[in-house]
Amino acid sequence: MTVDKTKLSYRNKIILAPMVRVGTLPMRLLALEYGADIVYTEELIDLKMIKAKRRINDVLGTIDFVDPSDGSIIFRTCDKEKDKVVLQLGTSDAERALAVGKIVEHDVAGLDINMGCPKEFSIKGGMGVALLSKPDKAVEILKTLVDNLKIPVTCKIRILPTTEDTINLVTKFAATGIAAIGIHCRRKDERPQHQPHPNVIKAVAQAVDIPIIANGGSREIDTYRDIFKFRDRCGVDSIMVARAAQLNVTIFRKEGLLPIFDVIKKYLKLCVDYDNPQSNTKYCVQSMLKELQETPLGKKFLLTQTLHQICNLWDLGDYCYKKQLEYQEKGNFGRREVCPGAIPGDDEETDGPQSKKHKPESETPASSPDILEHNIAFYRANYVEDTSLPKSILHTFASKNFKGVPKYEIQRFDKLFRAICSFDGKKYASTFWEKNKKYAEQGSALVCLLNLGLIEESELIKNGSILR
Ligand code: FNR
Repeated sequence: MTVDKTKLSYRNKIILAPMVRVGTLPMRLLALEYGADIVYTEELIDLKMIKAKRRINDVLGTIDFVDPSDGSIIFRTCDKEKDKVVLQLGTSDAERALAVGKIVEHDVAGLDINMGCPKEFSIKGGMGVALLSKPDKAVEILKTLVDNLKIPVTCKIRILPTTEDTINLVTKFAATGIAAIGIHCRRKDERPQHQPHPNVIKAVAQAVDIPIIANGGSREIDTYRDIFKFRDRCGVDSIMVARAAQLNVTIFRKEGLLPIFDVIKKYLKLCVDYDNPQSNTKYCVQSMLKELQETPLGKKFLLTQTLHQICNLWDLGDYCYKKQLEYQEKGNFGRREVCPGAIPGDDEETDGPQSKKHKPESETPASSPDILEHNIAFYRANYVEDTSLPKSILHTFASKNFKGVPKYEIQRFDKLFRAICSFDGKKYASTFWEKNKKYAEQGSALVCLLNLGLIEESELIKNGSILR
């Protein structure tokens, strides 16, 4: 069968550049909505992606690549971006890169290899710019992918010390059959504040035939028109924008930038709709706020700990709360898959989100017969006020009744935690393993409150803490 790799064209395109933490699903969808033609994911590391289990998430309408060791989502995508999303991979090995390519080729429009990251983590692993000094290895990776994948393959590089060296390298890479090459016009030791070298891209573009995507112009991109000015300075027809889009993704909007608070509100709504993690959402909003973090609203924002709290600041608190409850009711219990030693099985692609698979009993920490247990997950979104948190309620109850202070002991397994709450001569724990110690303590306090009759089981079922 001949493979049509021309489906995604890299000619004449305005692209959201790959950005760690920024290029997750809500930001990519927003960039597309505002006019980007193609969106790159953040760099995903091959070793992580290889372990990922592909899940169809019917509740959110997404395809999730889940880390089976802790239930976290490594990569989430959806139909809306299917023909426009390029997954960027950090790799130093052709076989591993191909394994990832095979896992994702039906869900993304293209695969890009990061050969421009100068961070120590990448270089130590032989990834990013390390590949530029091992061109044979880089060629092997690209050729393996081009020969074996149904989707177009690209790479993103930095320029080399001389223009001639850069032209030679790009010529070598082009010969592998890749569909395009992104060039960040800085050298590996140059930082974002340094002047870019669009003239080098221009010289390369004149010397080779392959589509070149120019990158590195955000210092001089303040408006939509500036994107084209930089593109023209590089003498190419496609351009990829990073920092200017991180700051305000409406940079892709023909009619001009929208006020940043409006953009944040739209972004937050997508974060709620696609159940984006609080930490990632906070990071991106913080990048958009920039110096506005010093305003009263900005200061309140910095104190937020949940998606619900962030949304409250932009009048989306109610929307967030209702949506989170709706998702819980429909069974989007992603975190419920988190249990020590969960073993991904071959049939997991079609598994419902509530499936649980355990390693043999002996490999998970044993329960003790004198601990009162219940399978309860702690959902921070259920508790708006700090005083309504399970630990606070238990603490208040203890002081009013002179029962002594509840004590918490943490058990750890892999990257998961559960707590044993000791109170009034008894021990309580949840059999649900949480991703952090704080949540584990709250979970054990919930079990205690339930056993003491201070909280109704029906309430915990209603708010999704206990599965029916
Ligand atoms: C980046 N950059 C980057 N590059 C890449 O190839 N993979 C990545 O995952 C990331 N991550 C990333 C995160 C953040 C927060 C920033 C600001 C940048 C580099 C980026 O894609 C781009 O090459 C440079 O920022 C230069 O382009 P601009 O910013 O001048 O448009």
